[in-house]
Amino acid sequence: MVEVVAALIWDMDRFLICQRPAHKTRGLLWEFVGGKVEPGETKEQALIRECREELAVTVAVQNVFMEVVHAYLDMTVHLTLFNSVIADGIPQRIEHNDIRWITPQEIPQYDFCPADTEILKKIVAVYATGGTNMNFAEIAQSRQSCRSYDATRKVEEEKIAAILETARLAPSACNGQPYHICVCRGESAKAVAKACQGMGMNKFASDAPVQLVISEEPYCKTAAVGAKVKGNDYRSIDIGIVAAFITAEATAQGLGTCILGWLDSEKIQEICHLDGKVRLVITLGYAKTDDKLRTKKRKDLVELTSQF
Ligand SMILES: Cc1cc2nc3c(=O)[nH]c(=O)nc-3n(C[C@H](O)[C@H](O)[C@H](O)COP(=O)(O)O)c2cc1C
Repeated sequence: MVEVVAALIWDMDRFLICQRPAHKTRGLLWEFVGGKVEPGETKEQALIRECREELAVTVAVQNVFMEVVHAYLDMTVHLTLFNSVIADGIPQRIEHNDIRWITPQEIPQYDFCPADTEILKKIVAVYATGGTNMNFAEIAQSRQSCRSYDATRKVEEEKIAAILETARLAPSACNGQPYHICVCRGESAKAVAKACQGMGMNKFASDAPVQLVISEEPYCKTAAVGAKVKGNDYRSIDIGIVAAFITAEATAQGLGTCILGWLDSEKIQEICHLDGKVRLVITLGYAKTDDKLRTKKRKDLVELTSQF
């Protein structure tokens, strides 16, 4: 059995694949960067060496994503695929015919080495519906108010469920969660979008296939007392936090959002049968492909922060 290691390297929602040279066995098939473990090497050392030799990058080797055993005609390999991140360098095409960053959805467009089949299935299972593999800083960088939706593209129900589950985990004053989230699709989404328009505002909202309506619920007793005694509007803060959780999870799922505060509460309460005042609507859907990431305009840290 030949011990082989390989790296699963992500850049936002894409992972790196390499095409074997035409003259080698399994020529022109795609694979993960990696290779055989040499005598005296640990698997991690072998992977670092292979990534340097094949791509001129230094990787930080993390946990094992998957192990597979595959019998080729010429040898049986035990392949260990490690989650890895590039610590230094930009991948260069040194040994391979080509290298590419692809999304899990693009896997069917490539012919992979047979040993990778089960791994690719797992990548699809873990990531293809979940969207991306971003850390929080990357989510914060890539979240932006989406004002150009692909009206023809439905949002998968499992993605909506994942967003709501994350919203459920948002912190709130006295853990009171003084809000309600109503998910509107189809005609009710259109009606909510309309109730967020007027005076030229929020025209784009009509193209978003889902609208998340956040309305007020009464405070719990302790938060009500605290808000009164301290003169602090905890409910608005709580609603802001849950909106932040929702937009962050949507970004992680590869979806676009825009928080709307320009809205007609009474109309939306009627549409959604809500007693509480509507505080925010969040448009949700896939951004059009030409909706590129804008440069963030923000106050600089000197103005925004102070330190003692
Ligand atoms: C409470 C709140 C209300 C907002 N209301 C609207 C709105 O009605 N329409 C809109 O287009 N954007 C709205 N926005 C989006 C902001 O304009 C946007 O977040 C801000 O300009 C920063 O841009 P970015 O989200 O693309 O980073 C709102 C954002 C927040 C947090």
